[in-house]
Amino acid sequence: MNAHEHGDDPLPPEIVRSLRCSVCGDPVGSAGRTVRCERGHSFDVAKQGYVNLLHARIPAGTADTAPMVAARVDLLASGAYLPLADELAKVASEHVQEGLIVDAGAGTGYYLAHVLDAAPGAHGLALDVSAVALRRAARAHPRASAAVWNLWEPWPVADRSASLILNVFAPRNAPQFHRVLTADGLLVVATPNPGHLRELGDLVISVDESKDTRLEETLGEHFSRVERREVTQQVKLSPSQIRQVVEMGPSAHHLHREGRRERLDGITASVDVTTSFSVTLYRPVP
Ligand SMILES: C[S@@+](CC[C@H](N)C(=O)[O-])C[C@H]1O[C@@H](n2cnc3c(N)ncnc32)[C@H](O)[C@@H]1O
Ligand SMILES: [Zn+2]
Repeated sequence: MNAHEHGDDPLPPEIVRSLRCSVCGDPVGSAGRTVRCERGHSFDVAKQGYVNLLHARIPAGTADTAPMVAARVDLLASGAYLPLADELAKVASEHVQEGLIVDAGAGTGYYLAHVLDAAPGAHGLALDVSAVALRRAARAHPRASAAVWNLWEPWPVADRSASLILNVFAPRNAPQFHRVLTADGLLVVATPNPGHLRELGDLVISVDESKDTRLEETLGEHFSRVERREVTQQVKLSPSQIRQVVEMGPSAHHLHREGRRERLDGITASVDVTTSFSVTLYRPVP
């Protein structure tokens, strides 16, 4: 039985000791389905296994919605992005065997689960604002836990507690990455490359291309880049996988424009597409 199937203490001690109260910053303890600090600030652990540490409302439109999460679950389950998961697991097996792995913007925990498989002594913490996604993340792996949090706020995680921070297509808060990572920890950022899914044209909004140039700038003063790996593969996507690729991301919000919905519905045969990602490794600047 893993900790998450255990009704009494859903969060393992390895995770609880790294969490901090999101109101006062004190350490927290776990009792039953509650996490609380000594001053009495308390947070519920949902029956689906994630803890909600938020004490303020998050801006509307920030979290991935249920339909986006559903499309992402199906697309990832098909193995279309497995080469990226394998590369992230390889990085972990080369660099991290134990300690805390924080996945910032973990979504459903798909990549975190692969990384935890490759780091048998480590525990994983998925942070995301989407409770719908975290229901999955909390169960993605026996050593994974999940907490609802807005990454733009100071994280409810202890200083220098993580040996690895994973960030896959998600917001990047460099000062928090730096504070939470141990001095010899590793930050691993995955981003899509400019040619990613190019065969799908404007059905997929390439939000990350401009972000990519900003990546070095935003991480610059806190991190130095040690390595960049490229993961590029041709994959054959079925019409339903193409729909999932579009609906799992921000492109879903633009389907009503310029006949995109009609063009998407008009795809009835598989398409060979390029998937292309960068996996970039950073060390914290002292
Ligand atoms: C493109 S998805 C990537 C999810 C996951 N890393 C994956 O690749 O499957 C971006 C994720 O960031 C989360 N997110 C967006 N803004 C956030 C914020 N301010 N704080 C926490 N999570 C956020 C979304 O809910 C979503 O799960
Ligand atoms: Zn407190």
